[in-house]
Amino acid sequence: QVAAASGHTVVLVDQSDEILKKSTKGIEESLKRVTKKKFADKPEAGVEFIKKTLKNLTTSTDAASVVHSTDLVIEAIVENLEVKNELFKMLDKFAPEHTIFASNTSSLQITKMANATTRQDRFGGLHFFNPVPMMKLVEVIKTPMTSQKTFESLVDFSKAVGKSPVSCKDTPGFIVNRLLVPYMMEAVRLFERGDASKEDIDVAMKLGAGYPMGPFELLDYVGLDTSKYIIDGWHSLEPNNPLFAPSPLLNKLVEEKKLGKKTGEGFYKYK
Ligand code: 3HC
Repeated sequence: QVAAASGHTVVLVDQSDEILKKSTKGIEESLKRVTKKKFADKPEAGVEFIKKTLKNLTTSTDAASVVHSTDLVIEAIVENLEVKNELFKMLDKFAPEHTIFASNTSSLQITKMANATTRQDRFGGLHFFNPVPMMKLVEVIKTPMTSQKTFESLVDFSKAVGKSPVSCKDTPGFIVNRLLVPYMMEAVRLFERGDASKEDIDVAMKLGAGYPMGPFELLDYVGLDTSKYIIDGWHSLEPNNPLFAPSPLLNKLVEEKKLGKKTGEGFYKYK
């Protein structure tokens, strides 16, 4: 959405037409929200903006065929290194020489993905934040193999889509998640110990720390499965780090498929 809205030609790739239809609908709805604000006094210009943006966006279920004419690939599939590597290996065969590959991973090592390809110098991380149309930040990750030219292209691209890039080494969680995920897990542990209710913890962090959402609202918003993937991955890397300890309550909710807003229930219930 943000790439298409800033004039880039985008092909959105997913596994089925059904998912793509749902994604396109989500983008249309999100564009309407953005436009309502951005063009509040010029509704016709808003309609034109939506039309132009959607014209820049097509969809496909065939990644191998569309990557032929792509300058930049941004991968945002399931947080599973093997599955990601399989995809990158396949794309590497069909992508032009100059094409840069980037992963939007929340917590996996970019270096491990780059090593699945023959273009380690043209590989980096581009980490966006939910909801992407609103959140201004992008973390640009440079591995020891990422060339300066690739890094600069990723920084330029981030600016071209209207974001403010920051850079970080290829370390677990980069900047934001390295601080945010342990904070959210500490909130769950506080609640698990019975020290405070989840509602009071959320109110406390909003009114006492100025956060736009409390930790439980944010966990539900990001998806409990995503948070569990992140914490489990870090726990296996550093089993003795108490900040990365898994939470029985989070595990139970994920097992029950209560993944947050997207499934209608997580820590809270949604209509
Ligand atoms: N698309 C477009 N616009 C959106 C949007 C979306 N998905 N979501 C919100 N907006 C915009 C709309 O313009 C909306 O105005 P509207 O009411 O006219 O539609 C405006 O935001 C305000 O939204 P709301 O009134 O619904 O709610 P808020 O004022 O609380 O703002 C928020 C919503 C921007 C999501 C704010 O609550 C927030 O900043 N929350 C924290 C988000 C955060 O911490 N994100 C990082 C998560 S970590 C992550 O993503 C990393 C990953 O690796 C796990």
